Amino acid sequence: QTRVLTGITTSGTPHLGNYVGAIRPAVAASLTPDVESFYFLADLHALIKVTEPERVQRSTLEIAAAWLACGLDPDKVWFYRQSEIVEIPELSWFLTCVAGKGILNRAHAYKAAVDKNRAEGEDDDAAINAGLFMYPVLMSADILVFNAHKVPVGRDQVQHIEMARDFAQRFNHLYGEHFVLPEALIEESVATLPGLDGRKMSKSYDNTIPLFAPREQLKKLIYSIVTDSRAPGEPKDTEGSALFQIYQAFASVEETEAMRRAFADGIAWGEAKQALFERIDAEISPLREKYETLIAQPHKIEEILIDGARRVRERYAHSTMKRLRAAVGLRDLS
Ligand code: TYM
Repeated sequence: QTRVLTGITTSGTPHLGNYVGAIRPAVAASLTPDVESFYFLADLHALIKVTEPERVQRSTLEIAAAWLACGLDPDKVWFYRQSEIVEIPELSWFLTCVAGKGILNRAHAYKAAVDKNRAEGEDDDAAINAGLFMYPVLMSADILVFNAHKVPVGRDQVQHIEMARDFAQRFNHLYGEHFVLPEALIEESVATLPGLDGRKMSKSYDNTIPLFAPREQLKKLIYSIVTDSRAPGEPKDTEGSALFQIYQAFASVEETEAMRRAFADGIAWGEAKQALFERIDAEISPLREKYETLIAQPHKIEEILIDGARRVRERYAHSTMKRLRAAVGLRDLS
């Protein structure tokens, strides 16, 4: 059995990037035979950036409802909040003690923060919390505590999974073969979904399209995607076009080819945007209805998450930590 695991940080409203990079492939994987899935809300990771408790709670509810609306079946998939698996921060410390600091220095998110400080003439580490620095170690603990084989993610997370492999390898080398080395599962056509301004769609760039934006807002946002100033009838480049890349993430191979020809034939931007809106809305609107129903039942979602955490700890996390505590020389707590 292949174990597939992925998480989303509860720092905001789920967007189309989360959907195509993680939720859609993960739900598809969970429906294939011989796969055991672990999908979770990374609420400990959220604390690195978000210091408003209501926002973490709201985001947890929204992301949980999004997973469920997109077809995650909590009776078939382990579905839980990271912060309720108390073994994760414990394992995170074990991994901290084998992780090379030099490797963490090279993490993209940390480096970007240092570069920003330098550009602003500040000290390298000004206003950077140690949580940001340790982020990849906590993420490794998420993956390794359940010995996941495959991790469906967008391209931005690949480096973190390589780090998880590195830490797992070091731990195995020191203490015996405890961990499987996880692999990223990337869908090439959607590895980095662009946002409204053409950069990677990301909460930090404020360029996202919320997954469950009401239809009118969805349309307005899609019409605001950047394009160049080429007039109708002028051939348009698919290369580097955010509009085309987003279309590709939602269309079949044939539809994508037809759109590529339409670009070459000089389709008007307005027409291309309308086609994109219709394509996305066709896929999302049945899910949106489910989402609206779910989000109105926060107690039901709470129950699902609490039950999921309890069961997955009992089934796996307890025994794994028991073994790992023994391996490093700590007393058995059970
Ligand atoms: P997060 O919350 O930033 O994003 C969640 C998932 O969405 C994907 N994603 C994208 N994919 C394609 N195009 C985009 N523009 C785009 N934006 C986001 C991300 O690649 C990710 O798969 N550290 C993780 C959460 C996490 C995790 C884990 C993931 C914590 N522990 C263990 C996997 C395994 C994060 O912050 O993702």
